[in-house]
Amino acid sequence: MAESMQGLKRTHRCGELSAVNVGETVTIMGWVQKNRNKGGLVFTDVRDRSGIIQVVCEEGTTEPALIEKAASLRSEYVVAIVGKVARRSGAVNDKIATGEIEVIPSELRILSEAMTPPFPIEENSKTKEEIRLKYRYLDLRRPDLQRNLKMKSQVMTLTRQYFAEEGFLEVETPMLGKTTPEGARDYLVPSRVHPGSFYGLPQSPQLYKQLLMCSGVDRYIQIARCFRDEDLRADRQPEFTQIDMELSFVDVDDVIDVNERYLKKLFREVLDVEVQLPIQRMTWQEAMDRFGSDKPDLRFGMELTDVSEVVKDCGFGVFTAALENGGSVRGINAKGQGGMPRKKIDKLTAFVKDYGAKGLAYVAIQEDGTVKSSFAKFMTEEQMQALIAAMNGEAGDLLLFAADKNKVVWDSLGALRIELAKQLELLDKNEYRFVWITEFPLLEWSEEQNRFVAMHHPFTMPMEEDLQYIESDPGRVRAKAYDIVLNGNEIGGGSVRIFQDDIQEKMFHALGFTDEQAYSQFGFLLDAFKYGVPPHAGLAYGLDRLVMLMAKQDSIRDVIAFPKIKDASCLMTEAPTPADTKQLEELGLEVVTEEK
Ligand code: AMO
Ligand code: AMP
Repeated sequence: MAESMQGLKRTHRCGELSAVNVGETVTIMGWVQKNRNKGGLVFTDVRDRSGIIQVVCEEGTTEPALIEKAASLRSEYVVAIVGKVARRSGAVNDKIATGEIEVIPSELRILSEAMTPPFPIEENSKTKEEIRLKYRYLDLRRPDLQRNLKMKSQVMTLTRQYFAEEGFLEVETPMLGKTTPEGARDYLVPSRVHPGSFYGLPQSPQLYKQLLMCSGVDRYIQIARCFRDEDLRADRQPEFTQIDMELSFVDVDDVIDVNERYLKKLFREVLDVEVQLPIQRMTWQEAMDRFGSDKPDLRFGMELTDVSEVVKDCGFGVFTAALENGGSVRGINAKGQGGMPRKKIDKLTAFVKDYGAKGLAYVAIQEDGTVKSSFAKFMTEEQMQALIAAMNGEAGDLLLFAADKNKVVWDSLGALRIELAKQLELLDKNEYRFVWITEFPLLEWSEEQNRFVAMHHPFTMPMEEDLQYIESDPGRVRAKAYDIVLNGNEIGGGSVRIFQDDIQEKMFHALGFTDEQAYSQFGFLLDAFKYGVPPHAGLAYGLDRLVMLMAKQDSIRDVIAFPKIKDASCLMTEAPTPADTKQLEELGLEVVTEEK
């Protein structure tokens, strides 16, 4: 039976009470975390967003009726308690902030009863994620998730404050926009008024923020929802949030400067972590050569070594064939892992196959200096020694090699490097290593589409010194694009934009667009540029990814209140669901189910 809270007013949150309040009469409200009845002595832990406080009813001090009522409480009941704060008569609990004190109640109201929750509401739940997500409202009561929500809110507040002080205007852009096939897949929204026509939900506010620069907004910021219909992973959601910005009359260094100061302030105020400025910068080429990734984790070494020159004349066909096909042979040295059992090496071989590698060749240098290797028989002793020397191999080391097209070699060794670091526990979540990756290729060849696609987006400015190649050798052109990477995660990216017609036209041609195609997709932007466009540049952070790393979580689901699972569905609401016939009729839509 639910009682009313009429006449009561909360005076404190549970976790706000401390020894300072001893002797005061307080009113707290919250959920019963735990109730222990020791016969005439009832301990009730009451929880709210701020923490937990112990409430004690004892024969002699508390009226019998109140003791009886307290004894009837069960986990997750919602209660209001009026009582006096006292020093604990029993043992002090130094694990919780309110461990020195307790509340001796004079009044207890049960505001709402609760069914037994499907899992305990506690820190570090071992409950399967599917169950937690189905009952997300209960999951969110757990202190770790409460902390994550709080941190995200704090990050958003600080972000708005910082950018406002830097002269940015927060401007909203539409959710219902024009669908643009470049990039990931759009989520479509059917129009009732225009049957057969669709809005696209924004993948990012990119075009609008560039238009805002044409409008003279000068410095724009928005904490913007974005929608992308792509395959999900631990660091991707179909809807996510960007901290999105654009600036007029600036170049790369200006964008980097305002953002480095932002990151410094954010990490200092939220985590008490000092970010050293300037943040290191690394070109895309260097990142790929050294780490096999455009989002290198710099918390550990194990860098890639190109051994193509060393093995080019050896007898191992796997290596020489890769080189003849224009590829490379590269390796990493897993220091001290020379004793790794064959089975484990086979597992690593299976691991790199997911990244397109055809195999993983190895040299395990034993403590006595002898060598176990999957390809030693194809090499002379001198060739093997030269290879080991090139890898700085010492007794006890494990050398792992991939031979293929550069992209495959980078992808597989880059991923292997991270996998080994995980297995060897080289990743310290308390360390924050930032790096800017610059000079990305402007274009990337898509085997699937048989044409170049923009690596960032079609409005990214080529580097001046490479413009000359945009027609003759487009793959060679580097872009004025930059990503900000933290501990191996791309937390943000942006670029200087093209604002000159002739360069934009060349870019569209390089992408294989005719003028008509370019106009039908982006005509409004190209038109806007004809009326006076300032040079401009911008950047967007993935807010969820940023907070995930700040909160030391492994998945962005842990920092999103109501996330979706891998197949983009919501386990709690069961969205997406079929629309009813009347809705479909109004929209002029018919669902055709494919026979399986
Ligand atoms: P980009 O596509 O690189 O750039 O996106 C910017 C940042 O958003 C985050 N992000 C995601 N986070 C969660 N789930 C996803 N599915 C997801 N996709 C991207 C990443 C990424 O770095 N308009 C440009 C920015 C610009 O040029 O100014 C853009 O959207 O952290
Ligand atoms: P095989 O000759 O196929 O038995 O391969 C000999 C060794 O080379 C095995 O350890 C394979 O895993 C490895 N290997 C095969 N293809 C590649 C490749 N493309 N790059 C690196 N190692 C490879």
